Amino acid sequence: MVVDQRPLGRGDGPFDSVELLSHIHARAAGFHHADDVAQMAFGPLQALDDVGMGLVGDMNHDARPNPPGEDGSTVAYPPPGDTLSSNERGRPACRLPLDAVPPYFERLRAEDPVHWAESGEEEVGGYWSVTKFNDIMAVDTNHEVFSSEPTIVLPDPAEDFTLPMFIAMDPPKHDVQRKTVSPIVAGPNLAKLEPIIRERAAVILDDCPIGEEFDWVDKVSIELTTMTLATLFDFPWEDRRKLTLWSDAATADEDAPIFEGGGEDRPRAMLFECVDYFMRLWNERVNAPPQPDLISMLCHGEATRDMDRMEYLGNLILLIVGGNDTTRNTISGSVLALHQNPDQDRKLRENPELIPSMVSETIRWQTPLAYMRRRATRDFELGGKTIREGDKIAMWYVSGNRDEEVIDRPNDYIIDRDRVRQHLSFGFGIHRCVGNRLAELQLKIIWEEILKRFPKIEVTGAPRMVNSSFVKGYETLPVIIPTKL
Ligand code: HEM
Repeated sequence: MVVDQRPLGRGDGPFDSVELLSHIHARAAGFHHADDVAQMAFGPLQALDDVGMGLVGDMNHDARPNPPGEDGSTVAYPPPGDTLSSNERGRPACRLPLDAVPPYFERLRAEDPVHWAESGEEEVGGYWSVTKFNDIMAVDTNHEVFSSEPTIVLPDPAEDFTLPMFIAMDPPKHDVQRKTVSPIVAGPNLAKLEPIIRERAAVILDDCPIGEEFDWVDKVSIELTTMTLATLFDFPWEDRRKLTLWSDAATADEDAPIFEGGGEDRPRAMLFECVDYFMRLWNERVNAPPQPDLISMLCHGEATRDMDRMEYLGNLILLIVGGNDTTRNTISGSVLALHQNPDQDRKLRENPELIPSMVSETIRWQTPLAYMRRRATRDFELGGKTIREGDKIAMWYVSGNRDEEVIDRPNDYIIDRDRVRQHLSFGFGIHRCVGNRLAELQLKIIWEEILKRFPKIEVTGAPRMVNSSFVKGYETLPVIIPTKL
């Protein structure tokens, strides 16, 4: 198939999105979908399972372990009869979602912190799981040795298709594209956004029912973050929930409720709609004077105005998913964490000045993106292992954020902990999250407004987790607000 890679230029009409999106849907180069979800869930657990199935040898070996069965010694992971081998949903361990994996990472950190895993999946292949805080930092801050190309998730893009986005690029191209969009989330623009976000947060919270169960994810987390994203894109207001839908379509499992009743073409159809919609906005803005919105910045920016359609789309997906899901899931996570830790909830309500610190602790505790992938550009020694040129590496932020050697009582949620900003959730180095201050701002505002209104938010049932090993988040979170202040 031929993908149209002509530069977008000035005022091209909608392009043939069908071919393009069939690939995006399959790959989502950076934000996986369907099969990719399963493959990535396979990764870390497979790493342990294959030990259990006979992965061999001394765990302190210098390089990759031998294939199973090549020598006699085996370490059982998980031990026979270990309940970790399946969960109540009846999934095999290798398909467990992120809410079920902490015990596996704990063992990896303790016994084999730089661990070679064979996924058994063609598109993933073998890869190194890096699970300790300092090792992750060593990889993330060394972009010369650890490249982000061609993608930041474990499955490789198809050979005839890549969806470029600057999170999955190395310098110099990464740097100039990042620079093009970063003013939108820099201090002066955040100062302009603050009162807008606050006004919206107030409206959203005032609309929450009292004494009646509702879904916090839909009513609050999605609503606020989608409104912010719509403002960044200067996206038609009445259509803003399309952004949520497309964000979900790019990341959700194909069994997800959003696809229900639409047949197997539904996920693809949703992404066709996304691309066509954004092409219309490009075409309108490319011939208008530059404006301070993301689309205008992209179509007028020197480093981005000649992007082809694939690259435009890749960067849009980066901004939609990166900017939306992560913050949404942290807002939901903050309600859950405070519910599970009533002493911390009390501390917060008695000391509202702790809100910024609580926000950072929640971002660590939640770790909305579980990992980023890199590829070694040359041989490198890490944690006593030799990573070979060309090897894939998964930096498991979700594990590094629980590293007891760096973070005191890492499994506890402590809103006033020392060095609360010392976490890996935003990454480090040249790809460190460009939107981190905007994420923190939204969380700070929503909690300032919650504390003005509600003495308590009770979680009334188990949240439904996103079925992914990349995005750690919530599809639903049932709550009741018993009374208003
Ligand atoms: C709690 C919320 C968020 C979390 C946990 C998060 C996490 C991350 C992580 C882990 C990375 C990659 C870091 C690395 O490779 O070292 C990243 C990059 C990025 N994030 Fe975020 N993010 C959040 C919010 C946002 C928001 C609100 C936006 C945009 C408005 C955003 C836009 C981006 C972009 C564009 C990149 C790519 C940066 C680059 O490659 O230079 N993120 N984020």
